Amino acid sequence: MTAGSVERFYDFHPINARQILDAVAARGIGADAITEEVLQQHDQDHYGGTAATDRLIVEAGVRAEDVVLDVCSGMGGPARYLAWKTGCDVTGVDITASRVEGAIELTRLAGLSGSVRFVRGSALAMPFRDASFTLAIAQESFAHVPDKPRLLAECARVLRPAGRLVFSDILHRGNLSAQDKRELFSGMTFSDIATAEGYVEQLRRCGMEVVRLVDLTQEWTRILVERLAMYRSLESQTVARLGREHFERYDRAYEHFVGLYQSGVLAGALIHSRKADAAARAGRN
Ligand SMILES: C[S@@+](CC[C@H](N)C(=O)[O-])C[C@H]1O[C@@H](n2cnc3c(N)ncnc32)[C@H](O)[C@@H]1O
Repeated sequence: MTAGSVERFYDFHPINARQILDAVAARGIGADAITEEVLQQHDQDHYGGTAATDRLIVEAGVRAEDVVLDVCSGMGGPARYLAWKTGCDVTGVDITASRVEGAIELTRLAGLSGSVRFVRGSALAMPFRDASFTLAIAQESFAHVPDKPRLLAECARVLRPAGRLVFSDILHRGNLSAQDKRELFSGMTFSDIATAEGYVEQLRRCGMEVVRLVDLTQEWTRILVERLAMYRSLESQTVARLGREHFERYDRAYEHFVGLYQSGVLAGALIHSRKADAAARAGRN
């Protein structure tokens, strides 16, 4: 799957900045009354909304002093929520220009541009100096990124010693057929679906130790069934905006994806890992 197809997928995603602003306006809230509390009910493009981001905040022990990178930040929902909730500073990076533009606009409307910023870039070659961040996060994005060893090495590179990488991702259990993989790659623009064991091993090779792995499979299966129903409830809006063929193609791909959770082929987890610090490394040598 090429980077261009992921960008097209997100350019035409049923949830986008325009749809969020329409949903806010439908609640009778004008642009000048938009706050983070208003946006956070609409702008989290991962499973479980702000409750999932709260779990990540607790797992990562986010503090006001943290300098956070949101890898594949989308419309910026988690980045804004982290800064608003904890007072930390957040930078988001995303490959899709329309997502970055939407994230900047929503952040400006929420009055958070002082502590939350977004740049366009690939997670495989991030435009940041070594050791820039104390924490990197990602939610339901890494399945789109084709080269996990390089992705994790990039995350480790931009983290300071003892920095944390805490992310949730779509996984498989080792029984993903070639046909299902092809359908997922073309329908959902995934590029590489990892296993939990694969992540643990690749993180270790990048000098990252896994602190904890929380299995989210059951919870995500329930959420995904609800998401499919939610996308279907937006049928008339999506057809009006993007056409019937687009709606039906997305619907088929999503139904297949949800089916793989229901049949136990796909899984999900929150993985908390930590970069070795220089003192600990020296002690071992
Ligand atoms: C499911 S969205 C998640 C957004 C965000 N984490 C959230 O929870 O709201 C996945 C995002 O990953 C981005 N993405 C996919 N491949 C990428 C890559 N190689 N580098 C940077 N961003 C990428 C997409 O553009 C999209 O915005």
